[in-house]
Amino acid sequence: MSNGSQNRRVLSGMRPTGALHLGNYHGALRNWLDLQYQYECFFFVADWHALTTGYEHTEGLEDKVWQVVIDWLSAGLNPGACTMFIQSRVPEHAELHLLLSMITPLGWLERVPTYKDQIEQMKDRDLGTYGFLGYPLLQSADILLYRAQYVPVGEDQVAHVEITREIARRFNHLFGREVDLEQKIKRALKQLGSRTATLYKELRRQYQEQGDVESLAKAQALVESNNRLSIADRERLLGFVEGTGRAILTEPQALLTPTPKLPGVDGRKMSKSYGNDIGLREDPDSVARKLKTMQTDPARARRTDPGDPDKCPVFDLHRIYSSEETRQWAAAGCRSAGIGCIECKKPLIDSVVAEITGIRARAQEFEESPELVRGIINEGCERARDAARRTMADVREAVGLEYG
Ligand code: TRP
Ligand code: SF4
Repeated sequence: MSNGSQNRRVLSGMRPTGALHLGNYHGALRNWLDLQYQYECFFFVADWHALTTGYEHTEGLEDKVWQVVIDWLSAGLNPGACTMFIQSRVPEHAELHLLLSMITPLGWLERVPTYKDQIEQMKDRDLGTYGFLGYPLLQSADILLYRAQYVPVGEDQVAHVEITREIARRFNHLFGREVDLEQKIKRALKQLGSRTATLYKELRRQYQEQGDVESLAKAQALVESNNRLSIADRERLLGFVEGTGRAILTEPQALLTPTPKLPGVDGRKMSKSYGNDIGLREDPDSVARKLKTMQTDPARARRTDPGDPDKCPVFDLHRIYSSEETRQWAAAGCRSAGIGCIECKKPLIDSVVAEITGIRARAQEFEESPELVRGIINEGCERARDAARRTMADVREAVGLEYG
């Protein structure tokens, strides 16, 4: 990628829920659009994850996967800037998941907060499976396979990034000893350049001999900011500072997506399962109809009753879609009962429809050329597999499964 970010990887995934709605867009995809130009990004459709909570409903899965991909492309994910792929087309995810399962204590998985929560919430599903318990570990494998530093997720997924960090640490601790480490470190130090290498060695000595954590942080920053190093060499040097051997797997960080509140038409969080969603490619007439009947501040039963924008889900949409000026007009008009709700919704309908119209036009082109979409994904899968194969070669070697 042409932006000097070759050492800064981002990975994120989305379940194949079919055509996306505005909640998916503002909750994740909008953020990915920016990230693709700042980092080396890998984005994938998590089709195996869909099975962990819905193995009985695989009909239509294929179509849902393609609908998600078309939404990504239509919203502006650019195959020239990021890598888009489908999880099951990179079987290394399964291999890493399996190897990680060997070292994952059951208690770690049982304690993931989403485990009990989802069993509580989704009573209609069979979640008593091995696959469902292991789903956060599958997610760990997704992340670690690409040695991603950053994982953009919503609040609900932070615990999964946290367990991924623990798994990486455990793996590195158990298997992070390289036979010819000294040799490889020497070569990596050469890449640093002699002045930086001297400083690195000095900082390492200060940390190891005096436990000086500031030196540790400085040494880490020194290695992390150096973009001449390959990912493997960077991990080696990072591990070597602490004397723990090589960090084969990278500990990722969650990149919390700042998500605006996005209510559905009934005022609850927008979700397909509530049936209160507005599609990212929905027909403009239908969008207008839904917004016209959207829930408002219940205190405004009559046109003459003043309302409170802070208690109105429509106003949450104004916060996302409207200019400062329009927002002030709406808020003041609401509080004074100077405008009616229909009037208040008008500029909002126009903005949402304008956004959707652009996306619909692009989507139509992709719908009409499925070979183009498949080609983009085929290429993405190849690129992803290249990265995945490199990690797995190191992982197999570390575990002791190299039979050259
Ligand atoms: N579990 C995520 C969700 O349900 C999707 C996902 C799967 C993911 N693998 C991932 C997200 C890896 C980030 C990184 O939304
Ligand atoms: Fe909501 Fe606007 Fe109606 Fe006020 S005027 S209750 S902000 S829709």
